[in-house]
Amino acid sequence: MELRDQVVLVTGANGGIGSALVSAFLTAGVKKIYAATKKTGTLPGLFSDQRVTPVVIDIANPSSVNTAAQACPDVTILVNNAGINLGSSLLDAPISARMEFDVNVFGTLSMCTAFAPVLKANSGGCIVNVISILAMVSMPSNGTYCASKAALHSITQGMRGTLAGQGTRVVGIYPGPVATRLTEGLEIPKAAPTKVAEEVVAGLMDDCDEVYPDDMSKNVSQGLAANAKAVEQQFAAF
Ligand SMILES: NC(=O)c1ccc[n+]([C@@H]2O[C@H](COP(=O)([O-])OP(=O)(O)OC[C@H]3O[C@@H](n4cnc5c(N)ncnc54)[C@H](OP(=O)(O)O)[C@@H]3O)[C@@H](O)[C@H]2O)c1
Repeated sequence: MELRDQVVLVTGANGGIGSALVSAFLTAGVKKIYAATKKTGTLPGLFSDQRVTPVVIDIANPSSVNTAAQACPDVTILVNNAGINLGSSLLDAPISARMEFDVNVFGTLSMCTAFAPVLKANSGGCIVNVISILAMVSMPSNGTYCASKAALHSITQGMRGTLAGQGTRVVGIYPGPVATRLTEGLEIPKAAPTKVAEEVVAGLMDDCDEVYPDDMSKNVSQGLAANAKAVEQQFAAF
C-alpha cells in the first residue's frame, strides 16, 4: 500500500504507541492525520506539523464516534489504537471486564462500523486495529484485558471478511510489552513505541494482514504455531 496521499485517523494519539504512530505516518509522507484524543488539550506539542488536525473522540461514547465519522469524511486509513488495561484478574470481573470491553471491544467495534461507510466512499481504504499478543494467549494477572483483546482479534478477522467486498483492508497489530503508560511499573523487557510504530507502517506498506512488531510478539507467535499448549502453560504462571 502506498502511504503518500493517505488521510489517516489515529485514536489515542496522546498515548505512547499512538503518538509514535502519528510521527511514523508523518515521516512516511501521508497527506493528513487526524490525531484523536479522548479529551481536548492532551495532544503532545510535537505535533506542530500542519498536516496534523486534532479531533476529540471518546471511542466508548457512540455519539462521539458518530460525530467524528461525519467530521472526518476524507479518512482513508483508520487506526484504532486507543485502549485500556486495568491489570485485573478474571476474579476482579465483572467491573474491570466491563470497562475494558466498553473501550477495547465495543469502542473499537463502533469506530469500525461508523467509519466503514467513510472508507467505502473513499475507495475502500484500510482499518488497522492495535490488538495485543495477549489476544492469542491469556496471562492470568491481566485476564480481563486478554479476554477483551481476544474478542477484538475475532472482530478484526470478522471485519476483514465483512468489508472485503467494499475493498477495505483490515489489519491486526499484535504487540508484546511496549514502554508506555500502560506498562508503567512492570519490570520486564519492553519494546520502544517508535520501533513498534515503524513496524506498523512497514507492515502496511508490505500489505500484511497481521503485524507482530517486536521480538517478544514474533517469538510468541512462532511458539504458538509450534506448540500452543506449551505457550499457554508458560503464560499461566504470570
Ligand atoms: N503498551 C503495551 O505493552 C501494549 C502491548 C500490546 C498492545 N497495546 C495496545 O496499544 C494501544 C495503545 O496503548 P499504549 O501502550 O500506547 O498505552 P497508553 O499510553 O496508555 O495509551 C492509550 C491511549 O488510549 C486512549 N484512550 C483510552 N480510553 C479511551 C477512550 N474511551 N476514547 C479514546 N481514547 C481512549 C488514552 O487516552 P487518555 O490518555 O486520554 O486516557 C491513550 O491515548 C492499546 O490498545 C493497548 O491495548 C499496548
